[in-house]
Amino acid sequence: MPKGRFIYDQRPAKLQELERLIKLNELYRPLMQELFQNHFSHHHKTTFDIIDIGAGTGHCTIDLKKIFPNAEVTYFDLSPTLMEYAKNIAEKEKSELTYILGDFAKFEFAKKYDFIFSRFALKHIYNPETAIKKMVDLLKPNGTILIMDKDVSANIWYPVFPLYKTKYMQALNEYNAKPERGGNSFVGRRIKYMLAKYGISNISTTLNAIDLTSEQNTEHQKLYTEVYFNLLPELVAEGLISQHEAEHDLKRLTDFFNAGGNLSVIFDFITKGSKI
Ligand SMILES: C[S@@+](CC[C@H](N)C(=O)[O-])C[C@H]1O[C@@H](n2cnc3c(N)ncnc32)[C@H](O)[C@@H]1O
Repeated sequence: MPKGRFIYDQRPAKLQELERLIKLNELYRPLMQELFQNHFSHHHKTTFDIIDIGAGTGHCTIDLKKIFPNAEVTYFDLSPTLMEYAKNIAEKEKSELTYILGDFAKFEFAKKYDFIFSRFALKHIYNPETAIKKMVDLLKPNGTILIMDKDVSANIWYPVFPLYKTKYMQALNEYNAKPERGGNSFVGRRIKYMLAKYGISNISTTLNAIDLTSEQNTEHQKLYTEVYFNLLPELVAEGLISQHEAEHDLKRLTDFFNAGGNLSVIFDFITKGSKI
């Protein structure tokens, strides 16, 4: 059985999570397309191998193939359900991808890649540092890597984070501390360090700041809030909190966003580098 935090097929809130990932991909699409275009502006090769690790719904994988039609683009994920979903949309869009179903921690790859991309997967993968080391090993010489992830300890809240010291947060922390959960919610700021440690050069990290309390970002705000609501059934099933207590605490989060004048800014850490 795989270990980690986002084991889609085992999640009680599966359908809600799929919907959330689809909405997330719609919202992020312009940013991702820009990142992919810029990332490759220095690539002169006409054929190269790209892999999207923890590719989920496959939206980014399909965009990579659209932007680089000559590349062989590989979808890699642990979830059979998400892979089926990705195959369906890729077929509709006539996007030809290579698919690999596997646990990144265990899978033995038959080839290496010119470009490795991974978004919002590393923080869920059982041991993020081992995963980074493996990603670096998977890169061809002169290959490039682009990793995008969050870091909950970087978020800015004013007044205080509404779930601070609640029973809900206590339950979530207890849940996340279970050895089989692995992953790391604070991984964003560490990616640069880990890439350098395993031999990546020319590393840069840029931050995409999202003000969840801005009227323009209500969709981002909903996505953020849904993460906590979608975890609720897991915490209840584990006996860490009652449904009633969890709902009571989560109301603080919605109240925070409904009140005027509060501030909440979250960040995507976008780190890239190359293997010399
Ligand atoms: C939050 S989703 C992000 C999906 C997609 N990259 C995106 O940004 O929309 C995390 C993904 O990582 C995958 N994942 C988690 N652990 C994995 C592992 N050990 N090996 C491969 N994929 C994994 C999950 O199945 C899920 O699709």
